[in-house]
Amino acid sequence: MRDSERKALRYKIENLSNLPTIPGVLKRIIRLIENPKVSLSDIGAFVTKDPALTTKILKMVNSPLYGFPGRISSVNQALVLLGLNVTKGLLLGVSVFELMQKAMTGLWEHSLACAICSRIIAQDMGMKDPEEVSCAGLLHDLGKVAIALEIPGIYQNYMEEAKEKRLPLYQIEDEHLSFTHAHAGGWVTRKWNFPKSLIDVIEFHHKPQLSKVAPDHSNVVHIADILVRARGLGFAGDYVVPPVNPKAWERLGLSEERVVNILSRMEEDMAESEGVFD
Ligand SMILES: [Fe+2]
Ligand SMILES: [Fe+2]
Repeated sequence: MRDSERKALRYKIENLSNLPTIPGVLKRIIRLIENPKVSLSDIGAFVTKDPALTTKILKMVNSPLYGFPGRISSVNQALVLLGLNVTKGLLLGVSVFELMQKAMTGLWEHSLACAICSRIIAQDMGMKDPEEVSCAGLLHDLGKVAIALEIPGIYQNYMEEAKEKRLPLYQIEDEHLSFTHAHAGGWVTRKWNFPKSLIDVIEFHHKPQLSKVAPDHSNVVHIADILVRARGLGFAGDYVVPPVNPKAWERLGLSEERVVNILSRMEEDMAESEGVFD
């Protein structure tokens, strides 16, 4: 791809030129969450006006994606429990569900498994905000959706190339575009005024050593992403397991025993989530 084409593509991704082709409800959700002045009660009012969205949110918060004990029966209760940042991510998560499936078969399952695994690791490590880490896990590959929307055919070729060369997809992206889906996800979520910690994880999930705002979250999502790929849950365009960053691994201090335990809890939760989001 020529330099000028690359610049044009970046501009399109950053400005979501394909926004007109995405569903109306998602467009309204993005407008809502990108407004820095939006409050939890604004979001609550928006969601409760839409019965389909209400059902989706309640299914999501009562699923193993979040570790809440007992049943949450109202949207307002859910939002208060989740807080503003996680709510924004959740809202985006439920609304990009269809887009993710359209962008890449298996991407939703990959993202969901990564969210669940990220939460389990965060809880295991006693981190104070496992829901936020889970949310970052759900959205970490959002940049793949953005790229696939803009250049579907070309992106398909990149995946083929990654398969042939046995290389991680981000490496092929970088070779052709001089940026990766991690950058693309960062551009989009920055444009949407997402919380800085979430942008940081999305941007650095393949290079967690560069994460400055939320290094712990980035380490967790980086490892969760690879564990999920290694277990073959879902599909995110990678035919090989991407390399583990040794610093991130070291920081988490995961023993073999703990990894085995995390994996079995993740698989249980994934089995329990089956069908919840259809
Ligand atoms: Fe990724
Ligand atoms: Fe991923």
